[in-house]
Amino acid sequence: MRNDWPYYIAGLPRPSSTTLEVRDKFTGECAARVAFADADAVDQAISAAWDARPAMAAFPPDARRDVLEHCAARFTERREELAHALCVEAGKPIRDARGEVDRLVDTFRIAAGEATRIGGEVLELQLSERTRGYRGMTRRVPVGVCSFITPFNFPLNLVAHKVAPAIAAGSPFVLKPAAKTPLGALIIGEVLAETDLPPGAFSILPCSNEDAAALVEDERIALFSFTGGEVGWELKSRAGRKKVVLELGGNAACIVDADPGRGLDDVVSRLVSGAYYQSGQSCISVQRILAHSSVYGELRERLGAAVDKLVAGDPHREETFIGPMIDEDAACRVEEWVAEALDGGATAIVRPRRDGNLLTPGLLEGVPRDARLYRDEVFGPVALMEPFDDFDDALARVNDSRFGLQAGVFTGSLDHAMRAWDTLEVGGVVVGDVPSFRVDNMPYGGVKASGLGREGVRSAIEDMTEPRLLVIRDLTR
Ligand code: SIN
Repeated sequence: MRNDWPYYIAGLPRPSSTTLEVRDKFTGECAARVAFADADAVDQAISAAWDARPAMAAFPPDARRDVLEHCAARFTERREELAHALCVEAGKPIRDARGEVDRLVDTFRIAAGEATRIGGEVLELQLSERTRGYRGMTRRVPVGVCSFITPFNFPLNLVAHKVAPAIAAGSPFVLKPAAKTPLGALIIGEVLAETDLPPGAFSILPCSNEDAAALVEDERIALFSFTGGEVGWELKSRAGRKKVVLELGGNAACIVDADPGRGLDDVVSRLVSGAYYQSGQSCISVQRILAHSSVYGELRERLGAAVDKLVAGDPHREETFIGPMIDEDAACRVEEWVAEALDGGATAIVRPRRDGNLLTPGLLEGVPRDARLYRDEVFGPVALMEPFDDFDDALARVNDSRFGLQAGVFTGSLDHAMRAWDTLEVGGVVVGDVPSFRVDNMPYGGVKASGLGREGVRSAIEDMTEPRLLVIRDLTR
């Protein structure tokens, strides 16, 4: 991997005398240096995006589609290189990293398809004598400048979920990637710079949170979209009149019903993937497993055995399932929450062990409801199990959370599936699988503390455009 990376301002690569070290999350060594922007650069980027609004709005839909298709093709060609970058900067196991690159390609392809389908509506205005002869129609126009802040856990695909819809919508943008994982976004910038997007259409600036303040507060920005922790609510309070989209965390639950509708082997394999992939560092990672008492014992035994076998270590090795967490602080925090739960009376089915930022997977039961491990977002490779006897009680327990992003329900009962869909206070219910399942064209987002609005390409395009009405007084009618 090369050592020096520029940032992108108004579509052009720029070096900077101030740089940010990107560490290999497994070895701890410096893997690259990226140009680090300051508040001036952020302001220049916003001005360039502001000036680019007319050119972006006039950039035709088929040209937007071609840009997005170019990106998808280039990411496909560079798949191994991109996966390697994720493996280094995020400590993401190589198989998960390849999976993320594949989803990145999907996200750009979905946006390419949507770019030429952004339509409008014909409105019947003739509702009375007064409106005789009037016709109405709407079309969607770009909302204007968008600002984005993205997290460390999907350095490519969660950037793609903001960038690709903005291009499809015709909205110029300024993006701040996570300081710990800026390379994914900069590679996206490198590929965007190969296209004929209008000057000023995009800027990608690793910078400090303080220097990013204008991305939240500047009144030239029409929409601010943030993915990250609950700090998003505080950012929203500073955002003034702009539209705000928040994709925040969760402590996702998965119900395993008396008749799970699947063999337990499948349930176990999906729970392992949902709870422990990329060390649980996903907003929809399975945190709370609620199993009917008739299957609890067997599930506990099989899941415990499967978790015990997960290979932890060097993310570059094909057999590694659990790589390092993003940093030692994160691993210590989870370790502390586990200790707190055990002190409060929980039992470890599989006890996690920490070495630096590497935390082996854990599975606990009997976790007190007021423990942070139950109540807050773990964002680490630890899940908990608890039995239930009554399905409605299980639904109530899923809802007994300040979060509501996605929930999973393994059930063979259509009635229970529909009841879950009716009752669960979440953005999405996944029946027959874990809450961690996501396809990139799904509307995706949460309720309660989990966020505001929906991502998923089409939903994001709706946010990044707004309807403009045309009324015609037709005197011939
Ligand atoms: C997230 O962590 O919010 C994103 C999960 C995903 O895209 O799979």
